[in-house]
Amino acid sequence: MNLTIVDHPLAKHYLTTLRNSSTDNDAFRAAARRLTNTLVLEATRDVPAREKPVETPMGTTTGHILADVVAVAVLRAGLGMLDAVVDMIPHVKVGFAGVQRDEDTAEPIEYYVNLPEVDDASVLILEPMLATGGSLSWAVDKAKEAGATDITALCVVTAPEGVARMFADHPDVRIVAAAADKELNDTYYIVPGLGDMGDRLFGTIDRPEL
Ligand code: URA
Repeated sequence: MNLTIVDHPLAKHYLTTLRNSSTDNDAFRAAARRLTNTLVLEATRDVPAREKPVETPMGTTTGHILADVVAVAVLRAGLGMLDAVVDMIPHVKVGFAGVQRDEDTAEPIEYYVNLPEVDDASVLILEPMLATGGSLSWAVDKAKEAGATDITALCVVTAPEGVARMFADHPDVRIVAAAADKELNDTYYIVPGLGDMGDRLFGTIDRPEL
């Protein structure tokens, strides 16, 4: 199975902040950004780089220039990972895939797709909560329709159901995540998870008591 769980103490620390129901929106956004940095390092491990001579103040040595990367943020929670990706990969091209889930079936309903040229780029799909896998599988379909062949999904938390769905629908896609959680509940939330990622990022829930 093409699932890598980032096993780094910093990643675990940021994930704990995200899981904690007392974390306010501001700290939640910061932890999402910091955790994404650790996921990007792992997800870009095999992105090709061409050699290019570089002049240092002391002489010439071999430098490395990273190949093209496209990031696709799955709206809306994927936006919480985007700043970190743009910060770490300055030349990244960014696309957006808007999907909401049918509350009864949890299947994706598409409402917006805008992808840049993919060409030979490595594509990173930002989908923090891999629950049923419906939205991620749909976003990968869109990326493949645009010509993507090298696709990695960056997730914060995965559920077994979502991983199984991705393995069935897109066995070629690599998943890099911070945690593999136990299960989905009957409303398709990941347990123990971290709640609704979009609500916690964007403040669309009651504020914790200060
Ligand atoms: N989306 C979320 O934000 N949280 C979950 O637990 C599952 C899907």
